[in-house]
Amino acid sequence: MKLIHLTDTHLVGPGLQLYGLDPRARLDAAIADINRHHADAELVIVTGDLTHWGEPAAYRNVRAAFDALCLPYTVLVGNHDRRAPCLDLLAAAPRDANGFVQGWHDTSAGRLIFLDTLDETSHAGELCEVRLAWCRETLAATPVTMPIYLFMHHPPFEVGIRMMDCIALKHPAAFIDVLQPFRARIRHMFFGHVHRPISGSWLGIPFSTLRGTNHQVCFDLSPTAARDACHEPPAYAVVLIGADTVVVHTHDYLDASLRFPFARPDIEDRAYMLGRFPLPDA
Ligand SMILES: [Fe+2]
Repeated sequence: MKLIHLTDTHLVGPGLQLYGLDPRARLDAAIADINRHHADAELVIVTGDLTHWGEPAAYRNVRAAFDALCLPYTVLVGNHDRRAPCLDLLAAAPRDANGFVQGWHDTSAGRLIFLDTLDETSHAGELCEVRLAWCRETLAATPVTMPIYLFMHHPPFEVGIRMMDCIALKHPAAFIDVLQPFRARIRHMFFGHVHRPISGSWLGIPFSTLRGTNHQVCFDLSPTAARDACHEPPAYAVVLIGADTVVVHTHDYLDASLRFPFARPDIEDRAYMLGRFPLPDA
């Protein structure tokens, strides 16, 4: 089973630039690449910061861009978003009974649970008592035979990049308490927010995140690192889920570097050389 993880599209109004880049053009390129190569995916999930300023025109721009996607998709909110215009203008946004952008979606690989970590007064993330209760109830209602995959914008832990650690999820202990009884069934956690390709585990739960489709955060682990952004290439992730595996490929979809076959160099004489071993039939 295949999923696509996109994050931090940071759209502004049509035709406008952000940090010297055209976020709509870069999202359009991602969507075109997904349509061309991954039309067999079950779902595309966008883990927040859909827009940069949260204005209605930007959400209409998001909707127009995703109109070109040939797959179903769902969206989460991040710290740059505004809940009301997102829910008003994007039918792909889940909505729980309390008006938060939360929901779940069952796939052939298990249940995907989408969390709303937006605090509209801060860039840091929040899971209030109401949202935590929804999360607890949703986890408890998931059939015990079903694997669980979590999607959210803010990481609930520090990643080592000072400027982003300052605005991670607040009060993660309460979230940990909710997850603990279900931890063994959570196969993977996907988040956005940090605009960096990072993977690892938290509480034994594997996680991954990736670059946004517009600007990125600089890789600088110094405790005195400046709040710098950069134009590292954008990416989306292709997630392949099997009975025993969750494999996350990060794809730099604007990469135009040279492609070449592993041809036989003149000095190569090993029978098992690259380019000569038989490949299985496609
Ligand atoms: Fe972002």
